[in-house]
This record gives sequence, C-alpha cells and structure tokens, in this order.
Amino acid sequence: MNVILGVGGGIAAYKAAELARALMERGANVQVVLTAAAGEFIRPLTFAALTNRKVITDLFGTGSAEEVLSSSVEHIRVAQENDVLVVAPATADLLAKFAAGLAPDFLTTLYLAFTGRVILAPAMNTNMWEHAATRENVAKLAARGNVVLPPDEGLLACGTTGAGRLPDPAWIAEAVVTIGERRKDLEGETVVITAGPTQEAIDPVRFISNHSSGKMGYAIAAAAACRGARVVLVSGPVNLDVPYGVELVAVKSAAEMRDAVMRQLPEATIIVKSAAVADYHVANPAAQKLKKTPARMSLELDPTVDILAEVGRNKGDRLLIGFAAETQNLVAEGRRKMETKNADMVVANLVSKEGIGFGSDVNEVTLVLKTGEVIALPRATKRVVADQIFDHALRLRLALHARS
Ligand code: CTP
Repeated sequence: MNVILGVGGGIAAYKAAELARALMERGANVQVVLTAAAGEFIRPLTFAALTNRKVITDLFGTGSAEEVLSSSVEHIRVAQENDVLVVAPATADLLAKFAAGLAPDFLTTLYLAFTGRVILAPAMNTNMWEHAATRENVAKLAARGNVVLPPDEGLLACGTTGAGRLPDPAWIAEAVVTIGERRKDLEGETVVITAGPTQEAIDPVRFISNHSSGKMGYAIAAAAACRGARVVLVSGPVNLDVPYGVELVAVKSAAEMRDAVMRQLPEATIIVKSAAVADYHVANPAAQKLKKTPARMSLELDPTVDILAEVGRNKGDRLLIGFAAETQNLVAEGRRKMETKNADMVVANLVSKEGIGFGSDVNEVTLVLKTGEVIALPRATKRVVADQIFDHALRLRLALHARS
C-alpha cells in the first residue's frame, strides 16, 4: 500500500515520526509531506531517514528553474501514485483549508488533487477542537467521505486536560491499514472474538483472574476488521485500545462473557474464542469487603460454563475457532479440545515457552484443524499470526464445505 503522510504544524508533529515507522512496519510505502509549520517542529531529515525517501516540504521548491518546473506538477504525480492520504496531526488550520478547498501549499494542493482515501487525525487544544468553526469543518470533511479519527482525551501540551490529543501512532497506523487494505476477503462476515482474561469476584474489591493481556484477541480483531468483516470483540478487562472499526462489548466475568457471546451468536459467521476464561468462579461472592482474621480461610469454587463448548453445541454452519493454552502435550491437547468442544480449528500455544504467549507482542502457535492437518506457524508478531489464522480458517471452511 502506498501512503502519503501529511504532517501539520502542531506539537504532536513529533509523533508523526513514530507513525511513519509504524506504517512501514505494516508494509506500507510512505511518502512524507511536511507543511512549513510542521518543519518548525520536526526536521525533514528525521522522516527521510525513517522512510528512506525524499521528504516533500514545499510547493514550488527553492532551487533551479528546472526544479521549480518539475515540482510544480509533483503534487499531481504524488496524488496519482498513492492509495491513502493520512494527515497527522491535522491542525485546525489544515482542517479549515481542506474544508474550504484552499490550496496555498503542497499538502493542501495535494488534498485537492487526491482521489484516494483521506484519513485525518486531528490534534489540537481542546477549545480549538470544540470551537464551532472546527466542528463545522470536521462535519463538512466527514460528509465528504474523509475519515476523521477522533482525538484522544488526556493531558495536552498546553497543560489542560480534554479532547485533542493525537491517538497512539500504532493505533493510527492500524486504522490506516484497515481503511486502505485492498484484500477484503472477510467482507459480509460477522466475526465474534473473545479476548483477555475474566475476573471472578471474591468480594467487591477482590477477584480471581489470570495473566492474559488480550493482545492476541485484539490482534485477531484488528486483522478481521482490516479484511472487511464486521467485528464484535467481547473482551474481559484489559489495558488495550480497541482497534479501528471494531465494536467492543466489555465484560468482566465468565458468566457475562457467556451471555454476550450467546447474544451475538445469531449474527456470527465466524467465532474466535481466544479469551482465557476462568474455569471456576467463587460460589458465593461476599456482598461486603471480607475482613481478615487470623484463621485459615478457604474459598468455595464452582465450575464456570464452558463457552466454547456451548457455542460448539449450537454451531450450525458457523466456523468455530478455539484456543488451547498448554504447558505440555500441545497437539494432543489441542485435538482433544477441538473434538470435545466441536470446534473446527484450535490454535494451540505453549504458554510456558520463553518470550511468547501472555503479555508478549509475538506468538508461536500450532494450528490443529478438523481436516487432520497440524500446522506449526513460525514465530511472528501477534498481528501477523492473526492474519495467518484467518488464511487457514478460510481455506479450512472451503475444504469442509467441499466435503459436505
Ligand atoms: N473456554 C471457554 N469457556 C471456559 C473455559 C475455556 O470458552 N469456561 C475456551 C477458551 O476460550 C479456549 C478454549 O476453551 O478457546 C480452551 O481453553 P483452555 O483454558 O486452554 O482449556 P480448558 O477447556 O479450560 O481446559 P484445561 O484448563 O483443562 O486445559
């Protein structure tokens, strides 16, 4: 994917360097265009070194007559060669110029000449973001089909707290890839994904849980959204941003997760159960905080519902993908869980292996398929593993349909 990264002149311009890198990590070719104001905040050399390309900074160039002539049509060439224009940070001034169709410099001229997808990531002081002029400009740009990624709330460079902060560059990069990706082989599908741990209350302030970070499930959600699916992410408590275009259903306990999944089941065509669901919950959670005493204390636990098994019993022709977190007998346990829970595929991983699994950004999994195949995927980032899971799942579905 060929991406133009337009950088406006705001304090968040420094984050655009990280965005350039995050886009390249996702396989994009990145052409950076700096406005003159952006050049005051961050030097072109930073971007040139990161992207290995000349950075465009000016409409007419400053050198020879030849340079002036060639750069005067450069905005047309750049517009034609790229799929996506992302502007981050999009300042109030840039939003106003885009909305009004003004073209005093390269980036604004490029905006008018560009016919691909436009993604705007505004960042500014809260009052500027909430000003009626900015609101009107944003509404106008959104109505025109430009995607406006809403700024985050938080502490701003001016010392105030409110909406206006540029979102995490990795999150923006994922959104750009989701919007610009041409491979839409999950279009028309509703993918329901569970992720993270569950929390089983002991009393109002304590719970039983596990080390699941939710990263694998969130990566699967990002991959599915990128490939065009409607994605519902049923997530236990985690500390992650919801990927662009993904609907979140936040739950805490296994019972809540079960209810949420069963509510989504009628519309689901693919279900991925990557959550680390507690196998037991406290039989009688206390209504008030338990007080300590010198005596030994024990908790009575009841089994939770096995959500994967329940979905398996009501599967219909949906594709059902389970997970198996193991410390030994990976393939045998994966196969056993696939068969007993009526899944079509189990993603098995050794949680005891150094550097992968819980909390890590990389994973190394083995796919156990209903067709009898066992596929060991190479160690890769969870996002890459997520795409490979869908590659094999779609192939598996074709094979299962051909059989029946
Ligand atoms: N699972 C579930 N509901 C539960 C427990 C597990 O849906 N109450 C799902 C998980 O989301 C995962 C699969 O079952 O997709 C396997 O989970 P895992 O914890 O590996 O296995 P368990 O079935 O709990 O078996 P064990 O703890 O004995 O390994």
